[in-house]
Amino acid sequence: MKTQQTILIVDDNRTNRVLLARSLANSGYSTIEAADGAKAIELALEHRPSIILLDVQMPVMDGFEACIRMKSMEKTAAIPVLFLTSHSEPANIERAFAVGGCDCIAKPFHMGEVKARLAVHLGLREATDMLEETHAQLLLAQKMESIGQLAAGVAHEINTPTQFVGDNTRFLKDTFEQLAPALGQVRQLLETAIAGGDCGREARAVKELFEEIELDYILEEFPTALDQSIEGLQRVSTIVKAMKEFSHSGPSEMALADLNRSLETTINVASHEWKYVAEIEKDLDSDLPHVFCHAGEIAQVLLNMIVNAAYALREKHGEGAGKKGVIRLSTRNAGRYVEIRVSDSGSGIPEEIRQRIFDPFFTTKAVGEGTGQGLSMAHKVVVQEHHGTISVESEVGVGTTFIIRLPLGRELAAVS
Ligand SMILES: Nc1ncnc2c1ncn2[C@@H]1O[C@H](COP(=O)(O)OP(=O)(O)O)[C@@H](O)[C@H]1O
Ligand SMILES: [Mg+2]
Repeated sequence: MKTQQTILIVDDNRTNRVLLARSLANSGYSTIEAADGAKAIELALEHRPSIILLDVQMPVMDGFEACIRMKSMEKTAAIPVLFLTSHSEPANIERAFAVGGCDCIAKPFHMGEVKARLAVHLGLREATDMLEETHAQLLLAQKMESIGQLAAGVAHEINTPTQFVGDNTRFLKDTFEQLAPALGQVRQLLETAIAGGDCGREARAVKELFEEIELDYILEEFPTALDQSIEGLQRVSTIVKAMKEFSHSGPSEMALADLNRSLETTINVASHEWKYVAEIEKDLDSDLPHVFCHAGEIAQVLLNMIVNAAYALREKHGEGAGKKGVIRLSTRNAGRYVEIRVSDSGSGIPEEIRQRIFDPFFTTKAVGEGTGQGLSMAHKVVVQEHHGTISVESEVGVGTTFIIRLPLGRELAAVS
């Protein structure tokens, strides 16, 4: 045993608790105790034990009810619950599993059996934790891969405006260097005029200078150069902000998030991927409720879909053919869930491979162009992690629509 594992013992019978606690302590476990279901939930939330030994019949709140509640809360849902019951008729055992228990031991119990079963479930729990850890690493790897892929595009996106802002600034500097002496002469002319002197000669000189430096051209170009520069800097700032928002992994716990915003960010971050092949159409529900989710991971899913859509358009129209297709993004509040659709007017997915696109490493792209991980990651994130659904509608030569549905109201189950 690497770290000491904590077992929560829940039983209204004190003798049972003491017996179990003593024996488990002898085997190297640390234990905490509760005498009813309500207290058990409180301790489970506070201590996050490795496993819970749960009596069924107790005052205040029985074991079944406590189990149902703990399974509905994010913080306690993954903790295995092993029931101990003196009513071990089949219906009761069935109920123990139905409410989310992982096992059921009849009372009076044999300590040896309890320990053996505990060891099995703790082992399973460890394996599950490891799987989750691996899954998290995979997600991170996929994210790094797509950030890497984006980096070149983002660099280009920043480089272009940076270049013309630089050119414009140099133009403004040169122009100002020409304007400054002319303005000096104008000032002199004014002083002469105010003093009542003859300023005909000075006025002619100023006029000549204005012609020489092409004042009309300067007056026309100056505001344009400034406007362009401001716009360029805004573009840089938008993409930097989007990149920052996107690569920031977000809170590790789920939180309420504005998915319209996630979509906007993702569109901006991926602009270099789609802008030469697609027009983006947006139909975002302005009343979209915030969704309890890992926003960073959902953004990652959306990115994968947009990149796939752009690829499908490139495949259909050819790179640089000048003909653009459409990527359509929409969000909708469907009451019990939020729906996000990513559609493209691209090459479509042939019927015979539609079943396989969510498989890990399935790709129809050449080596170096695809790794086949995008949709499998999307499926894991949406279905396993967010209890949502992801489906696809496609027609070869016409286009493809991915439909993501994320359930609403999960925060209610997760609050402690
Ligand atoms: N929008 C789309 N249009 C056409 N085919 C698609 C689309 N999205 C995904 N596919 C198909 O699904 C496969 C798997 O996609 P994905 O898991 O993202 O991996 P990759 O993009 O690396 O190939 C792609 O290779 C492609 O054949
Ligand atoms: Mg992909």
